[in-house]
Amino acid sequence: MDDAIAEAARCLRAGGLVAFPTETVYGLGADAANAAAIRRLYAVKGRPADHPSIVHLADAGDVHDGWVAHWPESAARLAEALWPGPLTVLVDAGPRAAPETLGGTATIALRVPDQPIARALIRAAGSGVAAPSANRFGRVSPTTASHVRADLGDEVDLILDGGPCPVGVESTIIDCRTDPPRLVRPGGVSEERLESILGTALTIGTDGDVRAPGTLPAHYAPDARVLLAPDLDAARAIEARGRVALLAPSHALPSVDEANAFAIVLDAGPDAATYAQRLYALLREADSQDADVLVAIPPSGGGLAAAIRDRLERAARGASHADERT
Ligand code: TXA
Ligand code: MG
Repeated sequence: MDDAIAEAARCLRAGGLVAFPTETVYGLGADAANAAAIRRLYAVKGRPADHPSIVHLADAGDVHDGWVAHWPESAARLAEALWPGPLTVLVDAGPRAAPETLGGTATIALRVPDQPIARALIRAAGSGVAAPSANRFGRVSPTTASHVRADLGDEVDLILDGGPCPVGVESTIIDCRTDPPRLVRPGGVSEERLESILGTALTIGTDGDVRAPGTLPAHYAPDARVLLAPDLDAARAIEARGRVALLAPSHALPSVDEANAFAIVLDAGPDAATYAQRLYALLREADSQDADVLVAIPPSGGGLAAAIRDRLERAARGASHADERT
């Protein structure tokens, strides 16, 4: 792996595109300071140029190497408590990132991923690594190297395989430019945890000037039409035509000896952590088994369950709002 990381770092320094594992999802990386590399990244991903990308750093101390103009107290506290980890902070950008990385905004999104391959790669590249999730814009995020290969295979220079991502949903994004900070996207770190570290309640939602495609109403969508149901009875009551798949926590699945209307049954596991780990792979599984409709029973509760509900709700809007994806 060390040789592969060194080669991948050379590739990034030369302006190439490297897909790499993080603890949340696979990222498609390019040198955040290299405008031409970022333009190619956006072309490959099919992402509009005005959508900024998260810049990944190897260590929290690196924020001061030109990436931020100002490092608010709230960001410092969160970074101290949660980095490396699935948290992204939005702050005023320093001079180092290419304007293309920031989508023309004056804000930078930063995170130190909790994944040894990712951190070694970033350190060896000697820069910040801009990396959106390594999927085509609007589609399901990749949680294995083979997902990346299936989506973007020929168009990336190198894919580092670190196995399946342990968290499975993207980082939580928090805007630290305001006081109190604003929760922009629920994710791998719970709102409850952030509030306890900061000792204050967060504001929720974007303020309109934050361009976050992961927060567009329609995103994370498989080809199958996604419908949500609160429980198995409600899921059974949905009259959908075609091949219908059911995605549900283990406790909400039909019993094995029961005749059921679902052509495909996808087990999201016993708890929210497992549901998050499996979520994107199971959305892809529904497509590979040619489901026309995917009925999903979201998990209940706080923490990761809130991030899963957020993604499922956006996936459910995906089919009817395909135009909002690009
Ligand atoms: O877990 C994650 O966050 C993964 C891994 C690879 O780190 N990355 C990820 O990237 O989910 P992406 O691009 O799929 O979603 C990042 C979100 C987008 O909605 C983007 O618009 C927002 O972060 N974002 C990035 N930079 C920003 C900025 N400067 N201002 C406002 N929003 C920003
Ligand atoms: Mg994404």
